[in-house]
Amino acid sequence: MAAIVAFVSQKGGVGKSTLARALAREAAYGGLRVKVADLDTQQGTIVDWHRLRLSLGIEPIVSVEAFGTAAQALEAATGYDLLIIDGPARTSQATLDIARAADLIVQPSGASRDDLIPAVREFHALTKAGIPKGRLAFALNRIGTPAEEVASRAFLEEAGYSVLAGFLRDRPAYRQAQNTGHSITETRYAGLNDQADTLIQSLIDRVTNG
Ligand SMILES: Nc1ncnc2c1ncn2[C@@H]1O[C@H](COP(=O)(O)OP(=O)(O)OP(=O)(O)O)[C@@H](O)[C@H]1O
Ligand SMILES: [Mg+2]
Repeated sequence: MAAIVAFVSQKGGVGKSTLARALAREAAYGGLRVKVADLDTQQGTIVDWHRLRLSLGIEPIVSVEAFGTAAQALEAATGYDLLIIDGPARTSQATLDIARAADLIVQPSGASRDDLIPAVREFHALTKAGIPKGRLAFALNRIGTPAEEVASRAFLEEAGYSVLAGFLRDRPAYRQAQNTGHSITETRYAGLNDQADTLIQSLIDRVTNG
């Protein structure tokens, strides 16, 4: 049985596809057989990125496929160690279906009140629908300063949720990397790669240690 990690959010543009791609890259690099299910059929962000990556010959290559529903993605997970689901924003029912299928549900959030409040509301909704809190984790993205990281981590933990160790700064180099078929752990800057990798490794630890 493949372990299943899903990226979800109510708000758009928070970093789901960014983290899903980095997880796929690092897990494949670590020797896992990885399948990415792009459930954002409107945007197809990872399908597009994967095509670019293939055309540029960037390794490691992971298997990426678009699916309409979580159930369809699950059927295709046979033979893989890790299924990564990239969910669409603003879709309560699809998000719930994805969350029910996943071993770990990761929601990226920025540091502002405008980001944190809807992010907590989304996890409250999943909890209310019966998803165990232990399967939910926040990932901090677009952090500006160390103080901002501390404050947003505290806010999310006080709301009752775990927050993955590590965080992503807001950096043009992360966008640039993804524009050229790379992941945020494959930028031209070792320091940025290490920071992204810290967050991704804490995610991998969490999913492999249950
Ligand atoms: N830490 C960061 N620094 C700089 N740019 C970032 C960072 N995280 C994400 N981005 C950029 O922000 C945009 C949105 O990120 P991404 O596509 O990962 O979000 P998403 O949650 O998948 O969005 P959607 O809800 O539209 O699917 C992308 O252009 C991405 O490159
Ligand atoms: Mg996306």
